[in-house]
Amino acid sequence: MEIGFGNGEFLVSLARRHPERYFLGIELSGISVEKLLKRLREEGLRNVFCVRLDAYWAFYLLLSDEAVEAIYLNYPDPWFKKRHHKRRLTRPENLYLFARKLKTGGEILLRTDDRPFLEYTLESAREVAAFEVSWEVLSPESPLTKYEAKWMSQGKTLYAARLRRVCSPKEIPHPQIEEVSAVFPVTVKDLSRLSGLSGKTLRPREDLVLKIFRIWEHGEDRLIEVLLSEAGYLQRFMIFARRVPGGWRLDVSGFSEVLRTRGLKEALEFLGRELNP
Ligand SMILES: C[S@@+](CC[C@H](N)C(=O)[O-])C[C@H]1O[C@@H](n2cnc3c(N)ncnc32)[C@H](O)[C@@H]1O
Repeated sequence: MEIGFGNGEFLVSLARRHPERYFLGIELSGISVEKLLKRLREEGLRNVFCVRLDAYWAFYLLLSDEAVEAIYLNYPDPWFKKRHHKRRLTRPENLYLFARKLKTGGEILLRTDDRPFLEYTLESAREVAAFEVSWEVLSPESPLTKYEAKWMSQGKTLYAARLRRVCSPKEIPHPQIEEVSAVFPVTVKDLSRLSGLSGKTLRPREDLVLKIFRIWEHGEDRLIEVLLSEAGYLQRFMIFARRVPGGWRLDVSGFSEVLRTRGLKEALEFLGRELNP
């Protein structure tokens, strides 16, 4: 697996060298995903998959425990400011989850040019207590990408760390969400308060936020554009308010792809109560 594959060059070269293996790339950036897909098409590679998701949630939602052989993290954003450290890819909650998904003997292979980020990562790894850790300063003789060779020739110091899973991780409190089998539609008698909610943020409970954007009208029906944040997991989708006898039925639009979570169900019910208290 590669987290934050950028333009996809590293992932594609790995896949080319190992046609017998499967690779999964995780990226937040849609442009990066497009670039990777283009490279894969051009080279006819069929052993690479990718997903546009935050790495934490991709590991949480898509992978079984002890299923992964190696995780590559090349030059992740260091998030320099202390108040931004919680966004770092190697925060303890993330390393805990990565450790759970790795096979015993599997490895996280990190490269960075930021010494404080390296030290932060080693400290997080100690907290998770599942890894044998080693690191080195890369030398011009190490196998390097063309960018790395260029940075090194400019006098940059590059570090490589290896976190080898040797046992199960120590449990670290980490964000969790629960899937539910159905998000039942909510029926309301009156929609007159809806237009007032455009641009508003609703907070059904701690760690659950529903932001309402635009609202489109079509006859008596309404389409509501929303963003749901549940324990930091973001979903953007449409809610369809359809006229039915005696009121309106609110449901996730059939055109929106969502993960049906408990938070989504609660948010929909909360919206119903906001409309008809
Ligand atoms: C500094 S770039 C490095 C790109 C590439 N690995 C390289 O070495 O050139 C960091 C990349 O990580 C991605 N990224 C940052 N946070 C992420 C997250 N939480 N989940 C997935 N990808 C993430 C960014 O979109 C960006 O493409």
